[in-house]
Order: sequence, then structure tokens, then C-alpha cells
Amino acid sequence: MDLRALSPAGRFVLFAASLAVGLAGCHSAQRLTPEQAEGKHLYDVRCAHCHEDNDLALKKVPPNLRGLFEHKALPSGIPASDAAVAANVLNGRGLMPGFAGRFTNEQMAALLAYLHTGLR
Ligand code: HEC
Repeated sequence: MDLRALSPAGRFVLFAASLAVGLAGCHSAQRLTPEQAEGKHLYDVRCAHCHEDNDLALKKVPPNLRGLFEHKALPSGIPASDAAVAANVLNGRGLMPGFAGRFTNEQMAALLAYLHTGLR
């Protein structure tokens, strides 16, 4: 489509429509189940600052957790399973602290449910 062929009003409608699509994209969290949304909250608060921002400037850069369960193995080489990820979170690994006692079973299930979305 040639944008120059559109009237100013036509261009505005196109602009507004693309804006609406963009905004809908930002609200993808609303498509999560309540459990996944709870997990996303936990991930955002407890995990993202390291795994996305590496805010502590750790020498071993925390691996990106997007699509974690789409791979056969975790970055360490352990087969990617709920049990392995839960154990990693509870016990920690290398520079990653353990979260034992910080998550209830429900919260751990929610966190895993969110990680299974591939981090939408
Ligand atoms: C202080 C920073 C930090 C925080 C907070 C943190 N991690 Fe990590 N994480 C790391 C580092 C560093 C590694 C790499 C560890 C290694 O392989 O030595 C890692 C590795 C992992 C791995 C890969 C394990 C493997 O076997 O390869 C998973 C899964 C993981 N983290 C999940 C999480 C989740 C879920 C949270 C939130 C509950 C979290 N992490 C919070 C730093 C962090």
C-alpha cells in the first residue's frame, strides 16, 4: 500500500489501528491463566533482574529463560524438567542463590506454569 495515496484522515486511521495492535501486544499478560499470571509476577520480582538485566553484573551472565522448556536440556546440561528447574530454584546453582523457603508449593507451581509459556 502506498501511504502517500491516503488522505490525512486515512493515515490517521492507519496510525490509530497500528497503535491499537501495539497496545494489545503489551497486554499479552491478560491472556495468561491466573496461575501463569501469578508466576509472571514472581518471575518479574524474583528472577528478571538477574536473568534479563544481570543487575549485579555477575561474571557468569544468568542465562535467558525464554523458551526454557522448549530445549531438551537446561543450560547446565541437566534434562529440562519441572523437577530439575524447581530444584535449581530451591537450591541455587553457582552464583544463583537458592530460594528454599521463599516459595510455597503453589507459588512454585505458578512459577513453573509461567516458565512453560516460554515467558510470554
Ligand atoms: C542473583 C541472580 C539470580 C537470580 C535472582 C536468579 N538467578 Fe537463575 N541463575 C543465575 C545464574 C548466575 C545462573 C547460572 C548458574 C550456573 O550455571 O553457574 C542461573 C541459572 C538458572 C537456571 C539454569 C539452571 C541450569 O541447570 O542450567 C534456571 C532454570 C534459573 N536460573 C532459574 C531462575 C529462576 C526461576 C529464578 C527466580 C525464582 C532465578 N533463576 C533467579 C542467577 C540468578
